[in-house]
Amino acid sequence: MAATAAAAYGALIASLLLLLAAGAAADDGAALLEVKKSFRNVGNVLYDWSGDDHCSWRGVLCDNVTFAVAALNLSGLNLEGEISPAVGALKSLVSIDLKSNGLTGQIPDEIGDCSSIKTLDLSFNNLDGDIPFSVSKLKHLETLILKNNQLVGAIPSTLSQLPNLKILDLAQNKLSGEIPRLIYWNEVLQYLGLRGNQLEGTLSPDMCQLTGLWYLTIA
Ligand SMILES: *[C@@H]1O[C@H](CO)[C@@H](O)[C@H](O)[C@H]1NC(C)=O
Ligand SMILES: *[C@@H]1O[C@H](CO)[C@@H](O)[C@H](O)[C@H]1NC(C)=O
Repeated sequence: MAATAAAAYGALIASLLLLLAAGAAADDGAALLEVKKSFRNVGNVLYDWSGDDHCSWRGVLCDNVTFAVAALNLSGLNLEGEISPAVGALKSLVSIDLKSNGLTGQIPDEIGDCSSIKTLDLSFNNLDGDIPFSVSKLKHLETLILKNNQLVGAIPSTLSQLPNLKILDLAQNKLSGEIPRLIYWNEVLQYLGLRGNQLEGTLSPDMCQLTGLWYLTIA
């Protein structure tokens, strides 16, 4: 009897967990539809973004077990419009690749809510405004590529403290102000691209601390 009860209990727990996973996955589908609303020129490229099975939509890769969205890759699709704040609801995203589109507007603060993200590539768009401070909340971030946009303002000094950041490419924007000195103390950084901005200041001797670095472009 006890074994049967335990088995039944186990099955109940398992179905509850599955229900929870399904619920989270359904929310991801709704969040993706919000993201789509902020894009323009989607008619031809995101025509399959409808219906229940968001894991089969173009550019969407889901976790095999939870069906939560793990990666979003819409690079090179001539998308226009803006990046929706709804992207922040995709809590399981590990990678976002929106490079080589015609996206405009600012990078939403809510991007800082994508707490699992390791790769964020928004390069070769027309994004403007500041680099949001919220990016510094992304503790798993390894690759941040924002090159070839119209970003302004200073490089948030907090970016330099991201513990896993290996690639930071901010080249070809309109960034100004000083290069945060702390960036030179980041031991995991391998690539630092800052060329083609309006940054000030001289090269710091602290730069020698960048022991892992093998690629640097500044001027
Ligand atoms: C899902 O499984 C396939 C094949 O088994 C694998 O190639 C893919 O990387 C997995 N995807 C994720 C997000 O885990
Ligand atoms: C996104 O897709 C393009 C084209 O298939 C590919 O070259 C690129 O590596 C992908 N991005 C990521 C982050 O996997």
